[in-house]
Amino acid sequence: MIDDSPTFTPLSPAIGMEVHGIDMSRPAPPDIIARLNEALSHNSILLFRDQDLAPERHIAFSRYFGELEPHVADQYNMPGQPEIFIVSNVVENGREIGARGGARHWHSDYSYRERPSLGSLFHCLECPPEGGQTQFASMYTAYEALPDEKKELLAGVRAVHDYNYYWTNYTPHREPLTEEQRRQVPPVAHPALRTHPVSGRRALYLAHQVVSHFEGMEFEESQEIIEEIVSFATEARFVYTHEWRPGDVIFWDNRSSMHRVLPFDEERHRRRMHRTTLKGDRPYLAPLPDEAGKAA
Ligand SMILES: [Fe+2]
Repeated sequence: MIDDSPTFTPLSPAIGMEVHGIDMSRPAPPDIIARLNEALSHNSILLFRDQDLAPERHIAFSRYFGELEPHVADQYNMPGQPEIFIVSNVVENGREIGARGGARHWHSDYSYRERPSLGSLFHCLECPPEGGQTQFASMYTAYEALPDEKKELLAGVRAVHDYNYYWTNYTPHREPLTEEQRRQVPPVAHPALRTHPVSGRRALYLAHQVVSHFEGMEFEESQEIIEEIVSFATEARFVYTHEWRPGDVIFWDNRSSMHRVLPFDEERHRRRMHRTTLKGDRPYLAPLPDEAGKAA
């Protein structure tokens, strides 16, 4: 059982904490889980170094934070343990063991679900000597830095997240989704700004290439706005770039951050990562305190 309280050191000015004193392979009591939950909700990503984490323990530790949801592209889920989604370019017995490449566009996991993911726990088993980093952008600080007119625009629109649109248009290197997989992920609209259910802060909630358009707005106009907002929200001042080491685990909050992978030489180097994905709540946007006052 983990018995010492964890300590935290910042990873970057905008986002993230490194957590010290947690061995994820051991059971954790509720007060420590509560501290980690709080830290995640305020800092958006938590890094745990030097974790020796078998898939069963990865799943068990993740379940402290909620219900797990296997990925719709179930050909990349671990055989016998579908809660682990494998992201890898490794080929074994003539078969790709995981989703190759990772996602190179800025996104939030499962944003295309009616109840998108709360957070994901990503464990590095093998990584290339260069490239293959994951970048994380804080949607809290990006939102806060937006000009007022953009905040107002985004507060009034709902973005349509469409996984079929993404898979069809942006993943030519992967096999097409089956009819059954497509049926599981119909387009869904979420507010472009959301209130974090734990911290109460507002965050930008978009996903590049997964959001096809804003409800009631033409495709071209929507795409123009999405491009503009996402490039603003992912400026270097809002971003932390993580250089992976085997044994690293990052727990990221999908409600307040976006992430993407940087390219690496996939012909020469191996990258093997295991991910669990926590189910979250339906996104909502609560009025700001002064707006609530006006309405009353
Ligand atoms: Fe992702």
